[in-house]
Amino acid sequence: MKDMVKASGNTGGGNGTGITRRDFIKTSAAASLAAAIPAGLGLYAAGSEAIRVAVIGCGGRGTGAAIDCMDAAPGVEVVAMADLFAERIQSSLAKLREKHADKVKVRLERCFPGFDAYKKACALPEANLIIMAAPPGFRPIHFRAAIEAGKHVFMEKPVAVDPVGVRSVITSSVLATEKRLAVVAGTQRRHQARYLEVMKRIHDGAIGEVVGGQCYWNQGELWVVKREPQMSDMEWQCRNWIYFTWLSGDHIVEQHVHNIDVMNWAFRATPVKVMGMGGRQVRTGPEYGNIFDHFAVELEYPNGARVLSMCRQTAGCSDRIEERVVGTKGSAFGYGEILGPNAWKFEGDEVNPYVQEHADLIAAIRAGKPLNEGRRVAESTLCAIMGRMSAYTGQAISWDWAMKASKLDLSPVRYEFGPHAVDPVAVPGKTPLI
Ligand SMILES: NC(=O)c1ccc[n+]([C@@H]2O[C@H](COP(=O)([O-])OP(=O)(O)OC[C@H]3O[C@@H](n4cnc5c(N)ncnc54)[C@H](O)[C@@H]3O)[C@@H](O)[C@H]2O)c1
Repeated sequence: MKDMVKASGNTGGGNGTGITRRDFIKTSAAASLAAAIPAGLGLYAAGSEAIRVAVIGCGGRGTGAAIDCMDAAPGVEVVAMADLFAERIQSSLAKLREKHADKVKVRLERCFPGFDAYKKACALPEANLIIMAAPPGFRPIHFRAAIEAGKHVFMEKPVAVDPVGVRSVITSSVLATEKRLAVVAGTQRRHQARYLEVMKRIHDGAIGEVVGGQCYWNQGELWVVKREPQMSDMEWQCRNWIYFTWLSGDHIVEQHVHNIDVMNWAFRATPVKVMGMGGRQVRTGPEYGNIFDHFAVELEYPNGARVLSMCRQTAGCSDRIEERVVGTKGSAFGYGEILGPNAWKFEGDEVNPYVQEHADLIAAIRAGKPLNEGRRVAESTLCAIMGRMSAYTGQAISWDWAMKASKLDLSPVRYEFGPHAVDPVAVPGKTPLI
């Protein structure tokens, strides 16, 4: 991976944070007392030590994940915030304080804007858990920095946008295991009761041998950030990140990775070969960057089974977000249902899986038990990337080639605000396989 070359960002606050002290105090009125108290070190007995969180990427999910983490267990505090844009830190902080004023111990000098904000957050001795929810193109570099700094990690999916990034995440995950650090990925279905129960039944043979399946993420359109005249290429792309392959991986990677991960879970394997197609038929304007709006991909598993994977972001069409696993003696749905001789339906209670994943992470950290989902989520991310690469180029792709030989690295040469040309939209049969 190329390294972050240059720190940048809005540092107009005069205190290096991009946030004025007056603004900081304004958003912290309700919690100003709590904010003044330093993060407690050693406040909790052994086995329940304080979890002190630094958030990297303070948008919708970073804010949500920080709240989920504080909801998940006692003794969790948020101590630092890092984002490319200072105003995202401000708005996120206001939401955190609204929900958990007593647990938010963020000081102005622990708010970091800019491309190198992640380095400062990872280096903080006050933080022992890093929540990562910046666009996935940055994840491999952020993850490596956190593990090298000896921090536990919660990282949102997907964890890379290209095979070079996937290999970096796997290397960092190995280092995390060596350092006895816990890593949980935001594939919340892996922590959701209905999924856990249906998977246990599948693996115990309730539908016989698994011989096929289908998975879908078909939905309408998402938000768009319009380009303002003062925005550089880089600023606009980072704000409108879901539409640029180097930042999001395309929607097959950014969203559909959830369903592909479930199929890998059912098969207890990753596909040996992937062949897909897709295109950009409805969202064709420049505000939609260079991603496709639909994909259909076939995943071939080691036992010869073939799985159809389909995803679409188009308004006015049928929606379906689901996984169906086909066996020799029945079929199963990820949401918790089995059809066939061993018919069953999930009827239990369920903790919000977005909270449960943090509860599991915190329990593992406090018990000193190994929990590292880094390699698994990196592999599922690679499957989705292979689907995109196959659709973009028109070529079938083998797992071994993608994992070991592909040299695709979409990261820009320099991370700084300024010119950054958009790669052309892929054309199957012409776009080269790298
Ligand atoms: N598990 C889930 O169900 C789920 C749901 C939504 C999003 N996500 C994932 O969470 C991640 C974030 O998505 P979101 O919806 O919160 O997007 P968002 O746009 O709301 O937030 C992203 C934030 O990252 C910031 N950012 C951009 N570049 C950065 C950098 N280099 N360093 C630090 N911060 C940077 C942005 O300014 C923004 O505040 C994505 O990977 C997405 O796929 C997961």
